[in-house]
This record gives sequence, structure tokens and C-alpha cells, in this order.
Amino acid sequence: MLAAAFAAEATVEGAERPVVIAHRGASGYVVEHTLPAKAMAHAMGADYIEQDVVLSKDGVLVVLHDIYLEAVTDVAARFPERRHEDGRFYALDFTLAELKQLQLNERLNTKTGRQALPGRFPGGAGLFHISTFEEELRFIQGLNKSTGREAGVYVEIKSPDWHRKQGADVSRATVDMLRRYGYAKKTDKCWIQCFEWDEVRRVREELGWEGRLLLLMSKNPKPGMLEDVAKVADGIGPSIKQIATGKTPAERKLTPLVRQARALGLAVHPYTVRRDELPAWAASADELHEVIFRDAKADGVFTDFPDLTRQWIDRHSN
Ligand code: G3P
Ligand code: CA
Repeated sequence: MLAAAFAAEATVEGAERPVVIAHRGASGYVVEHTLPAKAMAHAMGADYIEQDVVLSKDGVLVVLHDIYLEAVTDVAARFPERRHEDGRFYALDFTLAELKQLQLNERLNTKTGRQALPGRFPGGAGLFHISTFEEELRFIQGLNKSTGREAGVYVEIKSPDWHRKQGADVSRATVDMLRRYGYAKKTDKCWIQCFEWDEVRRVREELGWEGRLLLLMSKNPKPGMLEDVAKVADGIGPSIKQIATGKTPAERKLTPLVRQARALGLAVHPYTVRRDELPAWAASADELHEVIFRDAKADGVFTDFPDLTRQWIDRHSN
């Protein structure tokens, strides 16, 4: 029976059920990394709400997925002279006051100029602005208080090596800000995540982060890597393409990655559930959830649709 799929096997985090991590907020419905998207995720029952963080020119952490601005803002129209030779507009070139002048829009495919996922929130609405990381922490903690339900924060440090080459330390700023807002220990409802293994180690060993820590990955780990990760981090975040393969649902095969990581005590939080961008091996969001939770037994998932993930877990719980 599906109800036993995860209830019978405690998740690594110690929770009885896998965790719902709202990816950039309820980004399937409202423009990513806006406060309305975060509020919607909170109301949908997300256990965690994700922030991606980068630094501004004046050293302020802002919540943006990219170190660039052109895919999600009107920067090209407002500051055309700030375009680099590579065609990019870098957030680190802009002060917070300048970033606050930009309007956030649904993500564009910068080659075609069209919305990357066309069924989502209509573009050009002119309704949304960039938040600082501190504003978002205050917002989520405010919702936690007013609703009486605590959603955690799940912070991705973006391109720390690139930031350091520009003379900026995005990791130190992130750890300092989290501590200021009461996130410091593994019992606090907070994870730090990063794609760069050297930086994950630095966050733990040099910056002294004692909270939960996760290594994101887009490729399968080399032999011995997971054992090294388990000595430093609490979990891994693979792409959903790393937990199953196959060109059709009928050809689907699970990989051993989730089992191997969990055997080492690592939590596994794959990314990303998108009902409008399914992997070839799943025909529906329901089927995708079945593979992630019932078959692979992941401990949680990043999801653009926290309502669908919450509903799936609730439906299959005792
Ligand atoms: O952080 C989990 C997932 O968000 C990683 O991918 O590119 O959406 O930040 P990305
Ligand atoms: Ca992320």
C-alpha cells in the first residue's frame, strides 16, 4: 500500500514524511522569488521555502536565481548602457537602490524573448520587485508568527567561486545573515545548499556553519565522493534526471543514487517537480511524485508546485 511508502521508512531528517521545498516559492503560479510567490508557498503548506542569493554592488544579499538580471527583469530597457560584452547584465554591477528600480517578470528564454514556460504568470505585469534576503527572512518569519505554522528557509549560495573572483564573499554574508535571524543549528528549520563542493566544505570548516548543509549536484558523483560528502554535509540535491532514467515511463529505471546516499545517512532532496516540464520517464506530476517518494524514497523534493507535492504526500500518508 502506498501509505507505507515513506511512513515505514523514517526520513533522514527525522520527519515522518518527506519535506516539501517550495522552489523559488510557488513559482509555478507566481513569478519566482517574489514575496507573493513565497506567501503562496507558505499558504500551500510548504515545509521549506527556497531562496537563491547573490550580492549587489554595495554588498547586499538579494534573492535572485542568476548572477545575471536579463532573464527575469527589465534591466535591458532601464539600464541599456550597463550591458557587458557578453550580452549580460550582472547583479553585482548594480547597487541595491538600482536593483530596486527593476521590475521582476516571469522568466524569459533570452534567445527567443518569449516566456520560458508559457502557461505561467503573464509577463509584463509590472507588479513585482527584487527582495533583499533580509526582507525575505523577515517576511517568512512574519508569516510563521501570524499563521502559527513554521516554514523553514532553504538557502542556495549562488556562484561563490565567481563572487570571490570579483572580490565578494557571498557565503560569509549568507551565514552571517542567517545567524542574525536565529538560524544556526541543525535543530533550526534551515538548510544551506550549494553546487560547489569546495564551498560546501568551506561553509562547514572555515565559516563554522553548524546547521544543515546540502551539496547540489548535476552529474553523478565519482566513486568515493558520497562518502566524502557524508563527512561534511547532511544531504545531497541531485537533479531528478539522476534518480531515474528512460525515454518513456515504460522504459523507466531507477538509479542507485538515492539508496547509496541514504545508506550513508545523507538526506536526498532532488530538484525539481514541474508539471509543465516533466522528465521523459513520467507522464504526469502524480507519476513523478510516485517515482520520487514511493520508488526512490527521497526525503523531500524541490517543487515549483508545492500544492501538488503537499497533496500527494498527504494523500499517501497514514
Ligand atoms: O537548489 C535546488 C535547485 O534550485 C537547483 O537548481 O538552478 O533551480 O537553483 P536551480
Ligand atoms: Ca536553487
